[in-house]
Amino acid sequence: MYSPDTPAGLLGIEPLTRAEIQAILDRAREFRPVAETSWRKLDLLKGRMVVNLFFEASTRTRTSFEIAAKRLGADTISITAQGSSVSKGESLVDTLNTLGAMRPDAIIMRHSASGAPHFLQRHLGIPIINAGDGTHEHPTQALLDARTILDHGVRLEGLRIAIIGDIAHSRVARSNVHLLSKFGADIVLCGPASLLPRELKQLAPGVTLTTDINEAIADAGVIMMLRVQLERQHEAAFPAGEYFGSYGLRLEHLHLARPDVIVMHPGPINRGREISSEVADSQRSAILNQVENGIVVRMAVLERVLTGRGNAQAAH
Ligand code: NCD
Repeated sequence: MYSPDTPAGLLGIEPLTRAEIQAILDRAREFRPVAETSWRKLDLLKGRMVVNLFFEASTRTRTSFEIAAKRLGADTISITAQGSSVSKGESLVDTLNTLGAMRPDAIIMRHSASGAPHFLQRHLGIPIINAGDGTHEHPTQALLDARTILDHGVRLEGLRIAIIGDIAHSRVARSNVHLLSKFGADIVLCGPASLLPRELKQLAPGVTLTTDINEAIADAGVIMMLRVQLERQHEAAFPAGEYFGSYGLRLEHLHLARPDVIVMHPGPINRGREISSEVADSQRSAILNQVENGIVVRMAVLERVLTGRGNAQAAH
């Protein structure tokens, strides 16, 4: 059971202070290898065990959590719903109690239900790291996105960032809005009206909404594209064939933005659906930098959760 002594996991960006976020971003930079080839295994988490529990598909997040844990010297076990007893009808609480009885030091979890990790954190005496819960939050994605923006020499204060696509179903958008707003960015959320709930304007200060992609991109320093999350739509919110014509990012859009604009996407990308190949592969694309930063940011998060480093100096 949860007790006040249970170390804090990482459930979302919303509860974090700006200082705590900054501490994670700074530590992530320290974990970056000096040269491309000089990755060295560290022993900061030697003897610790983390469980990667994914109830939804994932390539980048799951792999990079696993690599991050291994680079810190921890042992890792990956469980996906398809190969586990979840496919035999076991409930979420029973699965987590079973894993909890094996005494891992942390559970990294992705689930289609918003709030699932928060609910479990209250029931288990083990810290949980949210790797994406439904349409709610995906905290490590927002952290790696911020690390990527900063690496391009762009300040978050006053940054105009356009987040474009299926905002309604995007945990990436929500976590990014929380993070960027704490740093004083000017955030424009853009998508078809059916995927752009009006209440998102109230999510945090500094948020505006538009259904016009040209307006969103005008003078933007960062453009973040999102996939249309068909798996979360009970009926198509927009005719598939028309989407790219209205909301797909093409080279000609980039002229509207700042000359040094960077284009981001959490992946998986759907070429020709929300982004053209020319843009995805262009000099302005930071998509693979985001993937690279996923590892160092997750190292910083795992270290913070498992050792408490970064908590004390970032006290409120
Ligand atoms: C995102 C997710 O799972 O929320 N992907 C990711 O973690 N890199 C976005 C998406 O699936 O479209």
